[in-house]
Amino acid sequence: MTEILSRIAVLKKQRSAVILAHNYQAGDVQDIADYVGDSLGLSIAASKTTADVIIFCGVHFMAETAKILSPNKKVLMPDASSGCPMANMITAEKLIELKAKHKKAKVVCYVNTSAEVKAKSDICCTSANAQKVVEAIKDTDEIIFIPDKYLGLNTAAYAKGKKFIFWEGYCPIHMNILPEHILKLKKLHPKAISLVHPECRPETVKAADEALSTEGMMSFVKSSKALEFIIGTEVGMIYRLKKENPDKIFYPASELAVCPNMKKTTLEKILWSLEDLKTEIIVNEETAKRAKRAIEKMIEIGRQD
Ligand code: 13P
Ligand code: SF4
Repeated sequence: MTEILSRIAVLKKQRSAVILAHNYQAGDVQDIADYVGDSLGLSIAASKTTADVIIFCGVHFMAETAKILSPNKKVLMPDASSGCPMANMITAEKLIELKAKHKKAKVVCYVNTSAEVKAKSDICCTSANAQKVVEAIKDTDEIIFIPDKYLGLNTAAYAKGKKFIFWEGYCPIHMNILPEHILKLKKLHPKAISLVHPECRPETVKAADEALSTEGMMSFVKSSKALEFIIGTEVGMIYRLKKENPDKIFYPASELAVCPNMKKTTLEKILWSLEDLKTEIIVNEETAKRAKRAIEKMIEIGRQD
């Protein structure tokens, strides 16, 4: 074990810390994490941990969600400047204006939002459960879906009889994965199954075989008899796919699909974070209480399965 890895291991014990990492994190970060997963899995892991400290390796809204679900724990980000540009595309003020124009509508907010936006929403969703969350809304047929218009459009395609009000938000990384990327690779590898993330454009989703959350992709590949896969999401995903499926082959739909914010976490920063207990994520108590309601409603829907 290198010195940095052994120092992290010692401090992790001393601090009673758990390391949670998103599927897009760099391979060496994933390798030392106690749990690696998608936004939904990470939220659930954060809500269940008995550790005193959560080292969150991902982007800001994810660490904030962990803090909201575990208010008595210290949630630290090794690099607190790791934000999600999509989450920054809507503010609580903008949402209040939108709600005033659609008084009958219920607000479904993607987990990629700030705590303030979640606090003004009725229910949260992730890419793994957006369809289920929308289906569970029975008391109105008007849905304000924020902030990802592509996840919204891909979800609305299955929600018959509901009127959607979208927001002009998008993920700059997934937006640039195009149908031609998928079609070109399908021609080169006719036996490959193509999996894309629902943050991709509907045209890209249409060109692919399945649209799945990052953890959905992991389970699909594990249980599939196919040996080759085209992966339409952030390229970090390929690391875990290969690690857990060494006999299968993965082709990234676009090598340019890199989320720079997800790559800000390094082993050094994790070590410093454990040494200095920094940078702590703090959420205003009242905001956290309201946001928690929206997140817990979402988790509850998953429990009903
Ligand atoms: P998942 O919840 O599918 O992991 O997606 C999170 C995300 O930010 C995708 O860009
Ligand atoms: Fe945000 Fe896109 Fe990065 Fe996911 S990949 S964290 S949606 S910018």
